Amino acid sequence: MSAYTLDDVSYAVSLCGLSESEASELLENVNKTGENVSLELLFKYADFMVKTDSPRIDSCDIPAGRLWYIEPFCGSTTYVIETEDRLVLVDSGFPCYAEQLLSTLRSIFPDYDERKKDLILTHMDMDHAGLLSGFENIWMSNTSYEDFLGRADGKPNLRERHPLRTPVYRISSLLSRDISVNTARMRALNTFEPDSSKPLSYIGTLNIGPLSFAVYETSGGHVAGSIILYEQANRIVFAGDTLVNPSDMAKSQMEFIQMGTAMLGTMNADSAKAKAERSEFFALLDAGGWILCPGHGFPIRHQI
Ligand SMILES: [Fe+2]
Repeated sequence: MSAYTLDDVSYAVSLCGLSESEASELLENVNKTGENVSLELLFKYADFMVKTDSPRIDSCDIPAGRLWYIEPFCGSTTYVIETEDRLVLVDSGFPCYAEQLLSTLRSIFPDYDERKKDLILTHMDMDHAGLLSGFENIWMSNTSYEDFLGRADGKPNLRERHPLRTPVYRISSLLSRDISVNTARMRALNTFEPDSSKPLSYIGTLNIGPLSFAVYETSGGHVAGSIILYEQANRIVFAGDTLVNPSDMAKSQMEFIQMGTAMLGTMNADSAKAKAERSEFFALLDAGGWILCPGHGFPIRHQI
């Protein structure tokens, strides 16, 4: 296969607003990907990054207030726990969808800008860490925190360091506008270091207002530094991408996941570990009803 030229990738460059140097970097990485990323796939990915279709939104009552779920055209579901004195968000979609998410949040909560707000990131992937401003604290595992610090220093992120997948992740970062990071409000939450021999390790409890999350770190099946948060009093668990819900997911989400899998082979760093983590995730639920919040798709009502 002969190498592509800047002209060949110009559709994606202009659609996503890449600078001259970013366009060169995109081209360099497209030429490194081999057959996994055709121009057709590249342009389809770029199309996804600029869609402005309205997100799917729903909510339910919980003892602490209300749980909202916002599912964009592509990218993670954003959860908002609305309590009397603050909003706690879990994950925040793609950077290129940040403006849309912000206007959605302002339409749900007319006083959004004045509210006290925390954000929890289940992991460092760009489709979960799009909106990173306006929060008092942005909570995450030590591993994710160190990854963001490294990125702020110009180092490749955890995904881009994977030997075989670097070009595809670099293409995704460029097209999704995952190009700058402000670490000022970011906080590492580990009280304990994870035991990498276990699928899930308890790493501490995160208390925010009336909410108390028991936090477990995975062994890195999806990506290193991923966390799962159990909120026992409200019977809610946030699973990040250890769990996705294809049964209640927008059609575009499914298409996007299938496209990502075609480009990368798998979305997981280690699928066997991811499977063991999912089993352990369910084993940690005690008897009764739970709201399981997946990284993609809407929540699942689950009875033990
Ligand atoms: Fe994701």
